[in-house]
Amino acid sequence: MISKIDEIKKQALTDIETAKDSPYLEAIWRKYLGRREGKLTKILREIKDLPISQRPKIGALANKVLQEIDERINKAKNCLSFSQKGKSAKQGDITLPGEKVELGHLHPLTQMRFKVAEIFASLGFKILDGNELETEYYNFEALNIPASHPARDMWDTFFVDSPQSSLLKSKKGKYKLLLRTHTSSMQIRVMEKEKPPLRVCVIGRCFRNEATDASHEHTLYQIEGFCVDKEVSVANLIYTLRGFLSLLFEREVKVRLRPSYFPFTEPSFEMDFSCLNCQGKGCSVCGQTGWVEMLGCGMIHPKVYEAVGYATGQYSGFAFGIGLDRLVMMKNQIDDIRWLHSGDLRFIKQF
Ligand code: PHE
Repeated sequence: MISKIDEIKKQALTDIETAKDSPYLEAIWRKYLGRREGKLTKILREIKDLPISQRPKIGALANKVLQEIDERINKAKNCLSFSQKGKSAKQGDITLPGEKVELGHLHPLTQMRFKVAEIFASLGFKILDGNELETEYYNFEALNIPASHPARDMWDTFFVDSPQSSLLKSKKGKYKLLLRTHTSSMQIRVMEKEKPPLRVCVIGRCFRNEATDASHEHTLYQIEGFCVDKEVSVANLIYTLRGFLSLLFEREVKVRLRPSYFPFTEPSFEMDFSCLNCQGKGCSVCGQTGWVEMLGCGMIHPKVYEAVGYATGQYSGFAFGIGLDRLVMMKNQIDDIRWLHSGDLRFIKQF
């Protein structure tokens, strides 16, 4: 008799665990505890036929099991009313500790992107992103880099090889599609549509067909800034960039210009800023020079104005291109650019 009661208890508990709704739980109640057919009720009825010596022990056990089954059924009913329809009572046990929901946060590149946009907006720049799929015309040709020009080698390019897009017709001719190698293409797109005064900051993704290493990635973010008006000078360029870097790094930053070459600016410069790690004294970050190479910039080339239809000599302006990834690396002392796009949560969670 004892083993029979144990068996009933086991069966009843398994049934309760798999129950998916209240009517099923009620059926279980009837199956074990129902007045006529209940398996346990029958046992209780049979107790009176047992020898007197066995009755108290078995009676107590049967009553205990009855109570337990009854309690379990009630508890399962309560849980089901809280849990989703269709889930078993076991899954909906509200007395179990809750599942921890991990909160994410913005990627360090996105955080930097927002910060940069905020600073340039505060300096009166309009913030844009532009299209990543670009034509040869906007990426090169209109920026004074014709097909035959060796300067095209400065940007290793991913051309888009697809039948319907390999040659894209525009009023300027037929041009191949490519993944933009820099955000400078947006200088043309904006100037074609709008007249100075212009203050624009473009932050967006660019692509280079390069082998990756600690400081090169095939996918990178660039910040393109340009300002076109009457009588804009190199002094305005320096003032703007020094102001931007000081606001970004929250301290006074010194900058210097070195001559450089870009087909769409004349004169062209590389801008360095005083190493934040050693305050310009010389350390491993700046290769003992006290200066960190930062960005390319210059005064917009007359050929660019010509391409967008601005009258010769009417406007002057500056432009600059900064690597967003580089800023993130600098600010957080990250030594390998590949971490930024790795998707490795051990890295991301540190920001
Ligand atoms: N587009 C250039 C590059 O990708 C950077 C640059 C932008 C230089 C604007 C001058 C002016 O290297």
